[in-house]
Amino acid sequence: MAPSSRQAFLAPAIVTGWCLALAQLGYRIARHQLGANPIATALNQLGLLALVLLVASLCATPLKLTLGWTWPLRVRRTCGLLAFFTVLLHFLLYLGPDQGFDIVAVLGDIGKRPFIAVGFIALLLLVPLAWTSSKQAVQRLTFPVWQRLHRLVYAIAVLASLHFYLRVKADHTQPLIYASVVLIGFAIRLFAARVKAKAKRARVVGSASL
Ligand code: HEM
Repeated sequence: MAPSSRQAFLAPAIVTGWCLALAQLGYRIARHQLGANPIATALNQLGLLALVLLVASLCATPLKLTLGWTWPLRVRRTCGLLAFFTVLLHFLLYLGPDQGFDIVAVLGDIGKRPFIAVGFIALLLLVPLAWTSSKQAVQRLTFPVWQRLHRLVYAIAVLASLHFYLRVKADHTQPLIYASVVLIGFAIRLFAARVKAKAKRARVVGSASL
C-alpha cells in the first residue's frame, strides 16, 4: 500500500479528536462541571486547543526538513483550519457569554487590555489564511503569492503566544514553550532556505565556469 493511502486516516482521526474535545467541553458546561468561573475556563480551554493546533500546523515543514517526515504535511491544512475554527469559537464565547454581545464594551476591552488586542489581531490575520486554504485558492493566487501570504502564520503564532504570555500573571513557562517551538521552527526554515540558495548559487557559478 502506498504511504499516502496508509496515512489517509490521519486527517479524519484529528477531526474526530477535535469533535470529541468540543463535545466533552460542551458536556462539562451543560453539567456545570467547569468550576466557579465556567466561561473563563471554557475560554482558556478553547484558547489552548487553538494554540496547540496552530503550532502543530507550523511544525510540519521543520519536521520534514530535519527528520524527513512527510506525514505531518498531510495534516497541516486540517490542523490549520481546525485552529481557525477553534479561535472563532474562543472569540464567540468571549463576544457572547462573556461580553453579552456589547460591541462597545468589546472595543473598550481591546483598547484597555493589550492581551485582548493582540489576540484580536491574530484572529484578523487568520481570516485571509482560512479563506485561501483550498487548492482552488492556491491556483487562483498562484503558488508564490499564496506561499508569501501563508507565511503570515508565523506572525500569527508569535502573536498568539504573546497573547497567552500577557494573559498569564505568574508562571510564564507554558507560553514561552509555545513561542520557542514557533521560533525554532522558523529558524530551521530560514536555515534550510539559506542552504538551498547557497547550493543554487554554487550550481550557477559551476555551470558558468564550464
Ligand atoms: C490566534 C488567536 C488566539 C489564540 C491562539 C488564543 C489563545 C488563548 C490562550 C492560549 C489563552 C490562555 C489559556 C490558559 O490560560 O490556559 C487565551 C485566553 C483568553 N483569550 Fe485568547 N486566543 C486567541 C484570540 C483571542 C481573541 C480574538 C480574543 C478576544 C477578542 C481572546 C480572548 C481571550 C480571553 C478573554 C482569554 C482569558 C480568559 C480568562 O481567563 O478569563 N483570544 N487565549
